[in-house]
This record gives sequence, structure tokens and C-alpha cells, in this order.
Amino acid sequence: MPSHITAHDLTFEPYLGEAEIAQRVKALGQQIQQDYEGKRPLFLAILNGAFVFAADLVRAVGTECDVAFVRLASYEGTASTGKVSTVIGLDFEVKNRHILIVEDIVDTGRTLHHFMAELQKMEPASVALAALLYKPEALQHPVKIDYLGFEIPNKFVVGYGLDYDGLCRNLPSIYQLVEIEKL
Ligand code: IMP
Repeated sequence: MPSHITAHDLTFEPYLGEAEIAQRVKALGQQIQQDYEGKRPLFLAILNGAFVFAADLVRAVGTECDVAFVRLASYEGTASTGKVSTVIGLDFEVKNRHILIVEDIVDTGRTLHHFMAELQKMEPASVALAALLYKPEALQHPVKIDYLGFEIPNKFVVGYGLDYDGLCRNLPSIYQLVEIEKL
């Protein structure tokens, strides 16, 4: 992988390589397979960022499953609720299903906190979360991650589905923002 990349006005340095990611995703897939054998889980991958992680994760799970993609559109709610998200593209029956949400990164946790509360109203048999990355220092809304790839520092990352203003989603590995003073 190249030593540095630039996207728009920012510079990024290598952080997690392809082999390291692949190994971790495979281990998560095996764990999920064991836990969900015979349950036909419904993977719900959150667009856009989770598309790469989801593609690798579901292929590491050998058990029978369904895969669907949803997009969360957020809008300003009332002053008391702040940002609220609605789910677009959820055309699967969720009731009585074992749901496994697939997300690229948990940052403040706001997106998933609201989404999981909405899902619970649909009476699934269970809801669990697989997240590739988690920034504990950034968390503001409680989110329970059942299958975690990597805990990372509170720095902006790109690649493997994650973007910076539209760029870098296609990079096979993950890069971290270089602080200006390091350049
Ligand atoms: P949260 O609701 O604050 O947890 O934000 C989650 C979403 O913000 C993720 O699904 C990403 O789309 C985006 N995000 C958060 N941190 C990063 C990052 O470091 N790089 C790229 N996107 C990020």
C-alpha cells in the first residue's frame, strides 16, 4: 500500500492493511456462523460505508442467511430530539427475524442508537451489531457492539468503504488522517 495518499485537501497514512482486515473479518464471520447456525439471520448492511465490510463478512459466514441494504436519512427533528433518522429500503419483514446490523464505524453512536431503537419497534426475534471500527473516545450515545473488528483512536479514517467527502471508498485498506504538524 502506498505510504501516503491525498484526498481533496487532506493527507492520510496507512493504518490497517488488507491482510490484517481480512483476518479479522474472517474471524468475525466464523464467530457469527457459530452463533447463528440454523437461525437464518438477516444481515442489514448500512449504506454507503458498510458495503465493502458487508461483502467480505457475509462471505465469511457459511450459514444460510439473507442480506439487505438500508440507508439512513437523517433530518433535523424537534429541538428535544435533535437529529432523527429514517430507514430507507427496508423491504424485508423484520418481525421474528434475527437481525444482524452491519456498520462500517461507530463514531458518536448517534446513527445506530436511533436505528436500533426503531428496529426494536418492529419486533425482531433479536438484534445484534457487527461494526468494523469503533472510536470509544467519540461515543456519545450508548451502542452495544456484539461483533467488533477494531477499536481505534478518535482520528478520521478512510478506505475499505469509508469516504472523505466521496473519495477513498475504493481503497482496499484503511488510512488514517495525518495531523498537520506531522507533515
Ligand atoms: P455516528 O452516528 O457518529 O456513529 O457516525 C457514523 C457514521 O459517520 C459512519 O457510518 C460513517 O459513515 C461516518 N463516519 C464516522 N467516523 C468516520 C471516519 O473516521 N471516517 C469516515 N466516515 C466516518
